[in-house]
Amino acid sequence: MARKAIETEVVRVDAQRPEEEAIARAAEMLRRGGLVAFPTETVYGLGANALDAEAIARIYEAKGRPASNPLIVHVADAEAARQVVAAWAEAAGRLAARFWPGPLTLVLPKREAIPEIVTAGGPTVAVRIPAHAVALALLRAAAVPIAAPSANRSLRLSPTRAEHVLRDLKGRIPLILDGGPTTGGLESTVLDLTTSPPRLLRPGLVTPAEIETVIGPIERAAKPAGNQPLPSPGMMARHYAPRAPLEIQEGDASSRVQSLLAQGETVGWLTFTDPDWKHPGLTVLILPEEPEAYAAHLYAALHALDAADVTRIVVDLPPEGEAWLAARDRLHRAAIKSRPLSSLPVNHVRRTPGA
Ligand code: TXA
Ligand code: MG
Repeated sequence: MARKAIETEVVRVDAQRPEEEAIARAAEMLRRGGLVAFPTETVYGLGANALDAEAIARIYEAKGRPASNPLIVHVADAEAARQVVAAWAEAAGRLAARFWPGPLTLVLPKREAIPEIVTAGGPTVAVRIPAHAVALALLRAAAVPIAAPSANRSLRLSPTRAEHVLRDLKGRIPLILDGGPTTGGLESTVLDLTTSPPRLLRPGLVTPAEIETVIGPIERAAKPAGNQPLPSPGMMARHYAPRAPLEIQEGDASSRVQSLLAQGETVGWLTFTDPDWKHPGLTVLILPEEPEAYAAHLYAALHALDAADVTRIVVDLPPEGEAWLAARDRLHRAAIKSRPLSSLPVNHVRRTPGA
């Protein structure tokens, strides 16, 4: 079905002290059922009024997102979080006190008022308070909970800058609040509190060990290796991918990079140290060796390689360990996306019949 392109306006806002007028306009847009892309501390979100099913339908349409993948509801404070859930677990209170506002999303039983389209028909809702002045100002001004997936086309890289949002969603959404680059860089940790023990659904900037210091042992279902059956809709293996096929290299990647170049590919290489050679077909991006800084820069680096139209991407695998869990998880998913389907294990390809 042909859809009419709409004008996409980008409005600059101060990341620490967002201008009231811009926030008021964006809040009004949300209250009228429109979509607004805005920065959070993790990635940019594409927001709509979480109580308005028609507005939420526009998110799925703009992203091309499968209706089976539920959305995170963002709220301004813990009181507002209680308004969207049917039961506020004791563990939720402790985690909220420790990590909110921040990059931890809690899955809890949903309240009636939350339309089914937000939760993909399921009985639970994912909720978090973002730690970003623009997101918080918008939530307060709109005075409604805001459902917001990452502001990218489905299966593509999450945006960490307004220009990434624009590249993906220009002509499909009316307004982007540009608060500059996000500081976190990877999507929030998603923790299911409706199971016993609680279960990690997506690793993120809050690590399992940090969670366990607050509520005791959790089930670490989200393995950074890709091919196991997946516990939640959002655990779709193929995800978070740049345009060019991406492969992960353990150990020294230079011979692999050289052989791709010899085959005539243009290669983007994400590595930790400057290689001592150059090639006209090679773009080298050096990422920080410290996990938080790495997370903050990873997507921007992949977006840059997309923009440079490289034909292949090679990534040095970061080390093992809790602090690297989220980055390794995203890299593995990006790599799976780029493999031809025929090379995936059969059980993986056939996992969702008819999908
Ligand atoms: O950092 C973030 O979480 C960003 C910013 C914008 O807040 N949002 C984000 O949203 O990454 P999205 O839609 O790209 O990812 C939401 C994840 C998906 O994996 C989804 O399946 C999962 O959360 N999710 C949402 N609701 C759920 C539920 N009720 N049960 C299980 N998983 C859920
Ligand atoms: Mg996403």
